[in-house]
Order: sequence, then structure tokens, then C-alpha cells
Amino acid sequence: MLAKRLAQPHTARDSPSVFLWGAATSSHQVEGNNRWNDWWEYEQSGHLPYVSGRACSHYERYEEDFDLARSWGHNAHRFSIEWSRIEPSEGRWNEDAIAHYRSVIGALLRRGLEPVVTLHHFTNPAWFAHAGGWLRRDSANLFARYAGFVAEQLGKDVSYWLTINEPTVYVMQGYINGEWPPFFKRSWIKAGIALRNLAKAHVLARRQLHQACPDGKVGFAHSAPVVMPCDAERKRDRMAAGIREFLLNHIFFILIGASFKKRERTERCLDYIGINYYTRVVIRSVGWGAQALVGQACHLDHHPNRGPMSDTGWEIYPVGLRMALEKFSRLGIPVFVTENGVATGDEILRREFIVQHLERLAEAREGGANVIGYLYWSLLDNYEWAMGTKPHFGLAAVDPKTQERRPRPCVEDMKSICRGKQFAL
Ligand code: FCB
Repeated sequence: MLAKRLAQPHTARDSPSVFLWGAATSSHQVEGNNRWNDWWEYEQSGHLPYVSGRACSHYERYEEDFDLARSWGHNAHRFSIEWSRIEPSEGRWNEDAIAHYRSVIGALLRRGLEPVVTLHHFTNPAWFAHAGGWLRRDSANLFARYAGFVAEQLGKDVSYWLTINEPTVYVMQGYINGEWPPFFKRSWIKAGIALRNLAKAHVLARRQLHQACPDGKVGFAHSAPVVMPCDAERKRDRMAAGIREFLLNHIFFILIGASFKKRERTERCLDYIGINYYTRVVIRSVGWGAQALVGQACHLDHHPNRGPMSDTGWEIYPVGLRMALEKFSRLGIPVFVTENGVATGDEILRREFIVQHLERLAEAREGGANVIGYLYWSLLDNYEWAMGTKPHFGLAAVDPKTQERRPRPCVEDMKSICRGKQFAL
């Protein structure tokens, strides 16, 4: 049974080899009133279709939210520190914000929830964005200085750090697709510069984190879609899928100095890798020139083993999780599922989603992948970036008016698995 295959003792701190279970959030999506960052500014000026506003008021309600996580059997929780709260203007540290995150970490530890802390989850301080953001020459150093300050202040209580969330998604959305700040479209050179600076930022921040907490484990959260050609018999599709695969799943690793062949090189820049897995992307090459080379996503339903679609239009493809875990295990370091979830109003679908992905995770472990944890995205329904509050990813629904939390039935499935009990769907 799946439950038996994944079952482990419960408290992560008591036994470092324990499997980590829980959910993930990010500051801007749940905290509310994050008015010092670039997203907030663009929301207010009408460049983004939705405003985050109070979001889930998690900045005030974190204790209550962690009570829920604990009651669902979790032993870990991922959240992000909002850089713009810690450093609201260049070089000025906000002591209240640090005190807040110190309390957040304390609240997790008191409940037996292992903190998994992200330092950058898509948002930048407004001052940093105004000064050129990730195109700035010294952007990596500025980020590392912030990382160093946070590590010094909070390091002793945190064992798992993620420097940057999904650098490739951030750069695609902000510099190629132009849907997120800073809204550049097809700016390949700028995208390259930003990605290089993010890679440098990871390396420098990791150094800072290790200096302050030598036992801390530092990785980044990688968006790991499974990329496939639309028609495997068509050479153009295979080539475009190969290029996409390189851009989405390899380039950032190369930039930080990791290697699928030489484990020692990977260990010099990563202690573990966070895997965010949601879907597969099927690529079809159309037209000529650059467009033909990178191809485009094919949304037709003629692909083998096609799964149902979520409310965000992402195909549900559980075996892709096993494929991603197997692939990134080849780096030779532990892999940690730092996001996996589904936007849906269909609670049966959500339950199946979780169970099926955990089945595939169990298979990857049985095949030898060193998978150290699984975090569902997300703890709560939240502000889903440019898609607003419509996509419902949460283990609990949140009423935007009253802020009431309503746990969904899938928490019980996860709980039986976390607690190592039998369960049946
Ligand atoms: C990931 C992001 C996360 C959330 C989920 C649905 O790419 O890291 O913030 O938006 O997708």
C-alpha cells in the first residue's frame, strides 16, 4: 500500500531522515498588503488584471493557519520571506519584519513543522525594480546582502533554504511572454542577463547562508515540466522539444555550475534540489525562424495518455512527477518536491491528483531516487498572480470577505498517508 511505502515517523526535527510532508505558500500570494514590492505597484497602476489586496491575511493569521497544517498531520511547511518587507528601501533593514518572520518560524517549530524558507518568490522590492532589477550589474550582490542578513538573524532555526523560486518561470513570464513584471516581450538578451544574475545570486546567497548556518541545506526551487514533442515521428517537433527541454530544465543548472555527470560539481552549488512539478508541455514546431526552433505548446487532445485538464488549463500527468524525480536524481543530490498541486473545483479530482502523484513519487523512491519530502501547493486558496483568485489550489478554501478557512476533503487523504495509516479512495 502507498501509505506503508511512504510511512515514516512523524516529527522531522527528532529524526533528520524523516520524510517531510506539508504544504507551500509564498509571501505575496498569502500575506496581504505587501505594498513595498514591484507586483503591488503594477497591481495599483492597472498593469496587472487583479490586485492582491489583503490576500489571505496570512501575515496576521499564520498561527491559525499552522494549527490547520498541524491538525492535518503535516511535519513541514514552506513559506517565503518577503524581501521588500525586510529591506523596504536600499540598505535599510526593517527590524519589525525580521521579528515577524522570527515569530513565524517559532510558530512552526512549536507545532513540529519543519520550516522550508524561500528567499525570493517572484516579487522584488520596488526600489530594486526601479533601479533596473535583475538587469542591474550588482543585482546578485544586493540579493546576497539580503540573504546574509536574513541568515544571520534567522539562520539558527532553519535547516532548509530555497534561494530562488522557479528562476526560469520568472524570466519567461517577465522577459519573454511579458505577462509579469517587468513586462518585457521576447527580450531574449535581457532574459539571458536576468537569468545569469539570478544564477549568480543563488551562488552568492548560498555562500552567505552557509557562513551563518553551516548545517543548513540550500537549494533552489526548480519548475520541472516534462517536455515532449507533439509528434515523435516529426523531426522538427523533436528538435523544438529538445531546445525547450534545454531552456526549461538544463540552462539554469549549467549557469550555477551544476552537472548531471559530475556530482562533485553539483555539490559545490546545491545541497538538494526543490522540484516544482505540475504538468507536461507538448511542443509543436510551427512556421520558420526562432518560432520554429522553440516551437509552441500544442493544446490539442491527440497526445498519447492525455490526462484531464485543470482549471488553469494544465494537463494532469502524474507519471511526469516520477520522470522529473528520476531525471533530477541523476544530479546525485537529494530531491524534494517543493510544489505539486491542482487548481480545480472538483474535490474528487483533487483527491485523485494527490494520491496518484504520491503513487508515482513512491515508485521513484523505490527505483532509488532520494526523495526527501513532498509539499502540496498550496496550503490555502490564494492570489494566483496574473490569474487572480479564481484558481483554487488550496487544501483549504478561503472566503475573501470573511477570511474564513474551509478545509477540503483531500486533507484527510494526505493525513492518512502522512500518518502512515491505510486509506482507500
Ligand atoms: C508555481 C509558483 C507558485 C504558484 C503555482 C501555481 O509556478 O511557484 O507561486 O503560482 O505555480
